[in-house]
Amino acid sequence: MEAATIVIRPYRTDDAPCMARLYYEAVQALGPRAYSSAQVAAWAPAPLAPIDVLTRAADGRTTFVAADALDQAVAYVDLEADGHVDHLYCHPDFAGRGVASRLLETVIRHAAEQGVAALYVEASELARPVFERQGFTVTARRDFEVRGVPIHNYAMQRDLT
Ligand SMILES: CC(C)(COP(=O)(O)OP(=O)(O)OC[C@H]1O[C@@H](n2cnc3c(N)ncnc32)[C@H](O)[C@@H]1OP(=O)(O)O)[C@@H](O)C(=O)NCCC(=O)NCCS
Repeated sequence: MEAATIVIRPYRTDDAPCMARLYYEAVQALGPRAYSSAQVAAWAPAPLAPIDVLTRAADGRTTFVAADALDQAVAYVDLEADGHVDHLYCHPDFAGRGVASRLLETVIRHAAEQGVAALYVEASELARPVFERQGFTVTARRDFEVRGVPIHNYAMQRDLT
C-alpha cells in the first residue's frame, strides 16, 4: 500500500485493539535492527492489553493514528500536555514509508497550535533518525534497565518557538 493512502486522524476508542497489537509487532519485528533479543523481549514481552491503551489514551494526552484504506490503525503517536512525546510505533508492514514522519509532523503542528513551547522524547535507536529529521536534537544518551535488562535510548528535544 502506498503511503499516500494512509490518513492521519485523531485516535478513537475503537483503535485500541489494533494499537495494542501493533505496539508488540513493531517492537518484535523492528527492534532487532538495533537491540538484542533479550532487550526486545524486555521492551515488549507481550501485546498490550487493549484496556491499557484505552486508559493511557484517556489520561489527558492527545493521540493521533495513521489509518490504512480500511481505517485500521497501522501506526500511532501520543503527546502529553507538557510536550512529552510518549509512544511512536509503526506496524512493520508499513515501516520505512514516512508514516512515523507524518505522525510527527502532525504532533509538531498540533503542539505549536496549543502553545507548547518545546517537545521532548526518549527516542529508541530506531526512532532517533526519524526525530532528527523533524528537527529534534539529542541532549543525552540514557542507559537504564527494563525488567532487569540493560538498554538505552536518547533524550531529544525540539523548540517550537
Ligand atoms: C521508529 C518507528 C516508529 C519509525 O516508523 P516508520 O514509519 O518506519 O518511520 P519513517 O518511515 O518515517 O522513517 C523510517 C525510514 O523510512 C525512510 N522513509 C521516510 N519516508 C519515506 C518514504 N516516503 N518512502 C520510503 N522510505 C521513507 C526514512 O528515510 C527512514 O530511514 P532511516 O531511519 O534509515 O533514516 C518504527 O521503526 C517503529 O515502530 N519501531 C519500533 C518501536 C520504536 O522504536 N518506537 C519508538 C519509541 S521512541
